[in-house]
Amino acid sequence: MDSIQIDGGIPLQGQVRIQGSKNAALPVMAATVLINGRCLIENCPKITDVFQMQTLLESIGCRTWWEGHSLRIDATDVYDYRMPREAVKSMRSSISLLGPLLARNGEVFLYQPGGCVIGERPIDIHIHAMECLGVDFEEEEHYIHGTAARLTGANIFLKFPSVGATENAIMASVLAEGDTYIYPAAREPEIVALCDFLRRAGAIIEGDGTELILVKGVKTLHEACFRIPPDRIVAGTYITGCMLAGGSVFLGDAPVAQMAEVIKAAESMGVTFQDNSEGIFVQAPERLKTAGHIITGVYPGFPTDMQSMFLAAMCVADGKGILTEQIFENRFHVVDELRRMGARIDLRGDSAYTDGVLTLTGTDVHAEELRGGAALVMAGLGATGHTVVTGCEYICRGYENICRDLRELGARVYSI
Ligand code: EPZ
Repeated sequence: MDSIQIDGGIPLQGQVRIQGSKNAALPVMAATVLINGRCLIENCPKITDVFQMQTLLESIGCRTWWEGHSLRIDATDVYDYRMPREAVKSMRSSISLLGPLLARNGEVFLYQPGGCVIGERPIDIHIHAMECLGVDFEEEEHYIHGTAARLTGANIFLKFPSVGATENAIMASVLAEGDTYIYPAAREPEIVALCDFLRRAGAIIEGDGTELILVKGVKTLHEACFRIPPDRIVAGTYITGCMLAGGSVFLGDAPVAQMAEVIKAAESMGVTFQDNSEGIFVQAPERLKTAGHIITGVYPGFPTDMQSMFLAAMCVADGKGILTEQIFENRFHVVDELRRMGARIDLRGDSAYTDGVLTLTGTDVHAEELRGGAALVMAGLGATGHTVVTGCEYICRGYENICRDLRELGARVYSI
C-alpha cells in the first residue's frame, strides 16, 4: 500500500468492530517463549508489528501459524538466544524478548533496538530490572549480551514506570527463584493483559494495574489460550476521526473502561458518548470546542499514543488549545504536515499551541511514524478536498485495515 486517498468533508456514519490490541499482542507473543509447548492467541491483530514479532520468534526456533484471527505459537524448540540484527533493528518491540529469553535460556544476545523518530528510547530501565534479578551484561556499542546462572526474585525499583521494562521484569521473574516486587510498575491495561495470559499459563502475579506488582516465581508454565483485548488506541483514533469529520459512529468492542481520559478530553470538546456492553456510540458536535490544555502522562493519564490524533482535532476546534507531551521527547512530527493542511500550530518546548481554523484543506502529506500517520488520515477525513497520505507502511504497523474500517464508518477512503 503506497498511499491512502481520502475525499474529506463527509460526516461519518456507521459502525465498526475494534481490532485486537497491538500493545497487548506483542508482549503476549514474546511471553510464549517462557512456555515449552503450544499457545493459542485469539483476536490477534494482523498488523506488520505482529508479523515481525513472528519473524523474531521463528528466528530463535519457534513455530507460528495463523488459524483465522488466532495465532498459534509453538515454543517447544527454542534453540537460540540470538536474533538476526536486521529483524531486531526493524522493530523496537524485539526488546520484549529480553526477559523471556533470559528466563528460558539464561542467556540473551540482542542487538540494541535503537530509537525511532519519536525518541531515543533507551533500554537502561530494562537492563536495571534484569540486573536486579541476577543478570550480568556486557554492553557493546551495537549489542547487549546477558547471562544468568539462575534468575533470583528481587525488589525491582524502576526510575520511571516504563511499560516495556515492567513487562520484561514480569516475564523474567515468573520462573525466577523466590518473590519479585516491581515498583513503580506501569499500570497500562496491556500490563494486565500480559499478566492475565501468564496466569492462564500458571504464573502467580498480583497487583498488576497498580504501581506495585508481586510475582511469585514458579517452576514451570504450561500451555495457554488467551484472547487479545480490543485496542484502546485504535478506538480512540476513530473517535478523533468522528471529531474531525463530524457525524456519529458506533465502535463495537471498544474498551471503554480503559479510555476514561480520552473520553473526558473529547467530551470537553463537545463530543457526546453513550456506552453499553457492546461498545460505545460517539456523536460529534457541529463545531469542536477548545480542549483547553491536554497533558500526556502514564496510565491512567491521557495516553501519549493519542497525542497526535487529538492535536489534529484541536486544529479545527473553536479557539486556542495547548497539548503538552511528557512521555516522548520528539513526538510532534505530525505538526509540519498538519500545517501544510492549513493548521495553525506553534511549537514551544514540549508543548504545541493550537489556534483552531474552521476546516483543514486536503493536500499531499507524508507519515513518518505510526500515530502521526493515523492522525493525518483522521485530519484528511475532516479536510475539504482530497488528501493523499504516503508513508502508509508506518500506519500498517498498528492498524489492521484502516481503510476498511473507515469505509465501514462511511468515509470515502481507499488505498493504492
Ligand atoms: C510502550 O512503549 C508502547 N509500545 C508505546 O506505544 C507507548 O507509547 C509507550 O509504551 C508509552 O505508553 C508497546 O507497548 C509495544 P516506555 P515503551 O518504556 O514500552 C523512556 C505505539 O504507538 N524509557 O513506557 O517503549 C522512553 O524513552 C507505541 O503503539 C527510558 O528512558 O514505552 C520514553 O521516553 C509508541 N529507558 C518513556 O520512558 C527505558 O529503559 C516511556 O517509555 C525505557 C523507557
